[in-house]
Amino acid sequence: MQGVGTKCHSYDLFRDIYNEFKEKDVIAGLYNFDQLVYMIIDLELVKNILVRDFNYFFNRKMYVNEEGEPLTGHLFSLRARRKFNFFKERGIPYVEPSFPLGNFQGVGSKYHSFDVFRDIYDKLKGKDVIAGVYSFTQPVYLIMDVELVKNVLIRDFNTFINRGGFVNEKDEPLTGHLFSLKDDKWRFLRNKLSPAFTSGKMKAMYYTISDKGKDYVDLVDNVLKEGKAINIKEITNCYTVDVVASVAFGMESNTMKGEHPELLNIFKELFGPDGTSFLKFFFLNAFPNFSKTIKLRVFSKDISDFFINVISRNIENREKTNDNRQDFLNMLIQLKNKGSIDGEFSTENRKITLNDALAQAFVFYFASADASSTTISFALAELAHHSEIQERLRTEILEKTKGKENDEISYETLQEMTYLGQVVNETLRMYTMGSILLRQANEDYKIPNSKHVIPKGADVFVPMIGLHFDDRYWKNPYKFDPERFTPEEIAKRPNHVYLPFGDGMRNCIGMRYALLTVKFALATILRNFKVTPNPKMKYPIKFNPKNPLMEPDGGFWLNIERI
Ligand code: HEM
Repeated sequence: MQGVGTKCHSYDLFRDIYNEFKEKDVIAGLYNFDQLVYMIIDLELVKNILVRDFNYFFNRKMYVNEEGEPLTGHLFSLRARRKFNFFKERGIPYVEPSFPLGNFQGVGSKYHSFDVFRDIYDKLKGKDVIAGVYSFTQPVYLIMDVELVKNVLIRDFNTFINRGGFVNEKDEPLTGHLFSLKDDKWRFLRNKLSPAFTSGKMKAMYYTISDKGKDYVDLVDNVLKEGKAINIKEITNCYTVDVVASVAFGMESNTMKGEHPELLNIFKELFGPDGTSFLKFFFLNAFPNFSKTIKLRVFSKDISDFFINVISRNIENREKTNDNRQDFLNMLIQLKNKGSIDGEFSTENRKITLNDALAQAFVFYFASADASSTTISFALAELAHHSEIQERLRTEILEKTKGKENDEISYETLQEMTYLGQVVNETLRMYTMGSILLRQANEDYKIPNSKHVIPKGADVFVPMIGLHFDDRYWKNPYKFDPERFTPEEIAKRPNHVYLPFGDGMRNCIGMRYALLTVKFALATILRNFKVTPNPKMKYPIKFNPKNPLMEPDGGFWLNIERI
């Protein structure tokens, strides 16, 4: 802005800047004093900002001080307030929002989204079959009735087939994965990939998990020898990264032996408390058109290039050497070259592309590495605080493995450990990955036996965390109690109140693999070590509001001793 007000008029300056940049890119950058400002150059983007994506740009940055200077209060936030009437006008229960974050005031600073969703659900439950929340100024429907949960996830699946995830396959091939894909492309890939996750295939791939058991135990032993305090999550991250790199990329990463530290650095970048990539992932989902136009990326170029190089190189090597390892990467190669997985029936032989394969290998990493290690860590934290449950579980593990070759924890032995299953189920009730399941209505949806309609295009949340703590279904819901998952107790509860892996055709495709990874890790640790509370970790667990993922405030500190 040099010279404005002395040598030139701002009018001329802006025209000159525009002319200079008009053919260079869709946006340009200016500095207003030391403030970075975007100039919108592209006409399509002008339309998005002024009209189509108005919700995200409805404020002008202006000084307002309604108390001290009432005249500055003019039209400020009037539009937002009008938007906040959406549910009131429709007679749908809601929690009073506030400007500008709607119902998410304080999320990320004072509160964790997990607690906020649980709180909203508790305030609204029992009032109607649906309720409303405001995500920023955007109205979102909450499904409050178990029968309606079933309709949205299963019966009327065709109306709610999509999540509204961000996909930009052209500029960022890794975004073309199953979690975010929509409509026909999603159907095509889900049909192609489902045979890779049958129980037969899980049994064949089990060695990719059990192979890593010894390294996991050695790593804990080494940390114990060093006499350092144990952050169980940090150790377990290495285990899950090694498992997933092996099964999805065909890479022996050996982070548990100190090799390939770059994989752990990337893990921290994606999932750590400063996990900007992860936050950006949600931002892009919320602002898809704007993000595409300005070519915003979900993952930094370095992260994308790293994964694309590693996976492509391993695909190439496998193809050259005809290596027939039984893992996910090999099944992707078969789908790319033949259109079907060996030994599996397929109704159509259309092949997947190399980019499809890269994105699916990547989502295996993205969806599983942190979710599995978080589940293992929360289970161990609860077991440390419930010694009687820990002892009972250890007795089961020792009994079932006794007399087995090398005391091996085989695939079949793991299936026989029913109490282990109960402990894992209870862990996933209390510590679900994400508080909600996301869906989007692709047509107006008249709710059966209700006056309400969910309009086409509306975002819908199934309040997984609310249901998991609803005292109408779970007695004493804040207590860790694996007895809730005996067959008799399960039979007493309605279906669809327990959804740690979602439900319906868009449920978690990796559920079986995830459960094997988690159960194997717990059986391995508890057979060798005893875990007890460490004063550095507060209990009952409070979540770190700054981490969008679930992490106890202060970290996962436990005392561990050899048995
Ligand atoms: C403890 C570990 C895990 C948990 C708690 C978990 C949980 C979930 C949940 C809640 C969903 C959404 C389901 C819905 O909307 O109905 C989901 C989707 C998904 N998960 Fe997992 N997951 C885990 C591990 C894995 C693993 C190991 C994979 C590996 C392939 C995986 C791949 C996916 C994919 C691809 C989707 C999207 C499926 C689709 O839209 O078709 N997850 N997961």
